[in-house]
Amino acid sequence: MDFFTYQQQALHAESVPVSDIVTQYGTPCYIYSRATIERHWHAFDQAVGEHPHLICYAVKANSNLGVLSVLAALGSGFDIVSGGELARVIEAGGDASKVVFSGVGKTEQEIAYALQLGIKCFNVESIPELDRINKVAGEWGKVAPISLRINPDVDAQTHPYISTGLKANKFGIAYDQALDTYLRAATLPNLKIVGMDCHIGSQLTTVAPFVDALDRLLALIDQLAQHNIHIEHLDVGGGLGVTYKDETPPHPDAYAKAMAARLDGRSHLQLILEPGRAIMANAGILVSKVEFIKQGEEKNFAIIDAAMNDLLRPALYSAWMDIIPVEQHQDRPVASYDVVGPVCETGDFLGKDRQLAIAAGDLIAVRSAGAYGFSMASNYNSRCRAAEIMVDGERTILVREREKLQELWKGEHKVS
Ligand code: LLP
Repeated sequence: MDFFTYQQQALHAESVPVSDIVTQYGTPCYIYSRATIERHWHAFDQAVGEHPHLICYAVKANSNLGVLSVLAALGSGFDIVSGGELARVIEAGGDASKVVFSGVGKTEQEIAYALQLGIKCFNVESIPELDRINKVAGEWGKVAPISLRINPDVDAQTHPYISTGLKANKFGIAYDQALDTYLRAATLPNLKIVGMDCHIGSQLTTVAPFVDALDRLLALIDQLAQHNIHIEHLDVGGGLGVTYKDETPPHPDAYAKAMAARLDGRSHLQLILEPGRAIMANAGILVSKVEFIKQGEEKNFAIIDAAMNDLLRPALYSAWMDIIPVEQHQDRPVASYDVVGPVCETGDFLGKDRQLAIAAGDLIAVRSAGAYGFSMASNYNSRCRAAEIMVDGERTILVREREKLQELWKGEHKVS
């Protein structure tokens, strides 16, 4: 459920006609709905109920300061994977003590930065990383709170590029080595073991793999208790899927309830969830203008002013994302189009074989673009990155200005 709906054939973001936003800010632009973000976050938060928990929004899904500030105001925690994401969270008003730091390649500087800010926990992915955090913490006179990311070896049955919980993936510590790694961590003087975590993949559409992973981790937690290692929180990662086309993922409510139910009788074990996509995907659209309609020999092309540099998912994962007109014109003939951008790559498409009633000059919207949309944008082909706008009821807030030409070479130097 989101707040992008047609009213009198005109697509609205909450109460604002999308075409009015375009008149003010131009295309291409991302439009986010504050009400949708808040609704999704509350769905997770309320579903867990009374059990101690923390929703740590996965910043990588959309790291715009406007988005982060809305979540920070709700009291959200954050899952970060870089010093840059941590800096954004702090700038947006987020609470460092609710931040978990994931990722396989944390640098010494990033570790020191996170220690100084006092984050909740480092999600550690390897033994060398444990040693590194212990060393940096020692240098700063700190004790680093850590959790080990365990690879539960369950098949998330999602796209191979976004499946992360199998033995063949680079992520996490192998299940069979988990106990030994915890025992080793316990000997390191500048570390405090506080948690256990996993993340098995993204865009999962059933609860079963999550529950399997959770059960494997609970068994490990019980084993650790016999060695006098007591885990305070269990972080089950993110990964809940959304509907792009005809997928039927469980509602966040059902998902979170299923997780929380497994923790019955473990009232001291805090549950952490790291949703990214499920909060942001359907809270955002990408709006673009049709520049030309081109009749090829075999296909019709709608050439739009957004491209793979703005929204990479179709090109990178062959992801299907819904494309709809901003104004519904009953009088236009419906035809089949490949919706493509101006970038010089055959892979630069946002949709193929789409039935649309459109003409040059029309606006189209790509739905479910709020997650892994702008956050994966680039300047490829020296294209300025899009503007981002947050809608809040009748208000529109420009949360990122459209990039300007001079900003394209900021920090670069000519050679004389
Ligand atoms: N926690 C960790 C440790 C992660 O690696 C991820 C995502 C999340 C949480 C959030 O997962 P989510 O709830 O959003 O599924 N660019 C890809 C998705 C990559 C996801 C990477 N990790 C896409 O556009 O589909």
